[in-house]
Amino acid sequence: MTGVRWGILGTGWVVENSFMPAIRELGPTHVVRAVASRTAAQARAFARQEGIQDAVEGYESLLERPDIDVVYVALPNHVHEKWTIRALESGKHVLCEKPLGMDPASVERMIDAAGISNRYLWEAYAFLFRSQTAHLCTLVQNGAIGDLTKIDSTFFTTIATVNYRWEASMGGGALYDLAVYPIRLADLWFQHAERASTVSTMRGTVDVESSGQVAYQRGRVLEFTVGLDHPYRTSATLWGTRGRIEVASPYHPQPTDLFTLFDNSVHPLQAAQHTGTFQAMLAHIGDAIQERQAPQYLADGSSRRVSSILAMLRGHRVARPESKHP
Ligand SMILES: NC(=O)c1ccc[n+]([C@@H]2O[C@H](COP(=O)([O-])OP(=O)(O)OC[C@H]3O[C@@H](n4cnc5c(N)ncnc54)[C@H](OP(=O)(O)O)[C@@H]3O)[C@@H](O)[C@H]2O)c1
Repeated sequence: MTGVRWGILGTGWVVENSFMPAIRELGPTHVVRAVASRTAAQARAFARQEGIQDAVEGYESLLERPDIDVVYVALPNHVHEKWTIRALESGKHVLCEKPLGMDPASVERMIDAAGISNRYLWEAYAFLFRSQTAHLCTLVQNGAIGDLTKIDSTFFTTIATVNYRWEASMGGGALYDLAVYPIRLADLWFQHAERASTVSTMRGTVDVESSGQVAYQRGRVLEFTVGLDHPYRTSATLWGTRGRIEVASPYHPQPTDLFTLFDNSVHPLQAAQHTGTFQAMLAHIGDAIQERQAPQYLADGSSRRVSSILAMLRGHRVARPESKHP
C-alpha cells in the first residue's frame, strides 16, 4: 500500500477548514479518493474546489467503493451512528466527528460494530494528538503541579443562524457541540464520574450556553462553561495541590499560543504547534492503518465515559429560557 486512501461523507465546515488543509499538509502519503454529498451537484462542486479525484452522489455509494481504506464521517451528530456503522460494515476504518453518538446506547452500538468488523474507530478529538497535550500529560505525570484535583475549562464560539446546532433533533446545542471537549480533556486524568449536573440557557429547543460540574471519584472535579453565541474563546486550568497550569488554547492551539506553569515561580511554555489542527491526528491514523504504529485514542472506553457524562448532564439540568434583549 502506498498511501492512505480516504473517503469523506459530507461537505461542510469542518471538512473544508480542518480536514482538507491537513490532507494537503500531509502530502502524497494521504489521498482523498472520493467525497460524497447528498446531492451530485454539491459533491461535484466540492470535489472541484478541493481537487478531490471523485465526486459521489449519496453516502452509500461511497461506502461501496473498494478503493477506500478509511472514511471520515463529518455529518451532523444525529446521523453519526448510522453512517459510522455502515462504513464499518463495509470494511472501512472510521474517523467519526464528535460527539460519537447521541447517547450511551448509540456509542455502544458503534464501538460494537468496530469490534465485529475488526476495524478501527476514532472519535475526532484532534487535540489529543497534538504536542501541547502530550506536554501537559508529561508535566502532570511528573508531579509538576502535585496531585491534579480540578480542571476548569471554557469553550465559546459563534454559530450562524442557519445551522444544525440549533436543532435538538440533530444533536444541536452547546453540550453536544462543545462540552465534549472539556469532558474528553478531563478523561485523560479523571475517569470515574459519580455525579454531573448543569445549568443551561435555552434558545428554542437547544442550550445556547451551559455551565456544568462533574464530580469524579477521589474528589476530582471538572467545571466548564460552553456557549454557541460568543466570540471564540477556549481555556483550561489544571489545578494541582502544588501549582497549576493555565492553557490559553487547549483544543485548537496555534503556533503562538502559550501555556503557563505556576509552581513557586512562573514558567511560560510555548504550545509549539507548527502544524494545523488535524494534521497529527490524520498522520497517526495513517500510521495505525498501515501498521507502522499501534493505534492510540481509539473510541472505546473514553467515548463511553464521555457519552455517559453527557447523559448525566442532560438528566440533571436546570434549564431556563434565554432572556430577550431589546
Ligand atoms: N473536530 C473538530 O475540530 C470539529 C470542528 C467543527 C465541527 N466538528 C463536527 O463535525 C460535524 C459537522 O460539523 P460542521 O460544522 O462541518 O457542519 P456543517 O457545516 O453543517 O456540515 C455538515 C454536513 O453534513 C451533511 N449533512 C447530512 N445530512 C444533513 C442534514 N440533515 N442537514 C445538514 N447537513 C447535513 C452536509 O453535507 P452534504 O450536503 O454535502 O451531504 C453538510 O455539509 C459535527 O459533528 C461537528 O461536531 C468537529
